[in-house]
Amino acid sequence: MAKKNIGNQGFTMPMPQAILGTHMDGRNNFMALAWVSRVNYNPPLMMISVGKRHYSNAAIKASGEFCVNIPSVDLVEVTDFVGLVSGSKLDKSELFEVEKGELENAPIISKCPISIECKVYDSMELPNDTLFVGEVIATWCDEDTLTDDIPDIKKVNPFTLTMPDNKYWSVGDCIGRAWHDGKKLK
Ligand SMILES: Cc1cc2nc3c(=O)[nH]c(=O)nc-3n(C[C@H](O)[C@H](O)[C@H](O)COP(=O)(O)O)c2cc1C
Repeated sequence: MAKKNIGNQGFTMPMPQAILGTHMDGRNNFMALAWVSRVNYNPPLMMISVGKRHYSNAAIKASGEFCVNIPSVDLVEVTDFVGLVSGSKLDKSELFEVEKGELENAPIISKCPISIECKVYDSMELPNDTLFVGEVIATWCDEDTLTDDIPDIKKVNPFTLTMPDNKYWSVGDCIGRAWHDGKKLK
């Protein structure tokens, strides 16, 4: 074997960096969230994994709702900050101006170009985290980040996280077309 086994925490693929918005006890809370993915087409479902000790975890269980906000690179510091301090220690509600969409407890961050409101569809308790599966109720986008009504990654300018080196990365160039380029090999 020419490869080196670096153990079981070596997952280094970029993860989408988001800010989770929740609401509990009359206030909004925000948390850095990277364990997030689309998992079903119809109904449209997303999964997020949230530590059991996090304030956000209790908030989602209490309301059954959450919002996945996608920040642009200019929000890297505040995104990191909401990943360093818990809502149980500090009221983080004033960090962001918010807007209300379809749901009552899924704060949409005005400064984030994309915000996805979700209602809990299912959940699973894992040893450290709760895996919440949310049904997407609405996706709110800044109009100037759309090209032909579709979010344009260059305009959204999101960033990603790699672990275990714990670094943020912007998104690079387009290198191909999905469901298309492979046809050359047919
Ligand atoms: C870059 C980054 C990504 C994170 N991703 C997650 C995640 O996907 N799931 C999670 O449970 N915690 C994640 N965290 C940790 C929480 O954001 C952090 O513990 C936060 O303070 C919890 O806030 P809360 O107690 O107000 O909910 C991340 C932290 C950082 C800095």
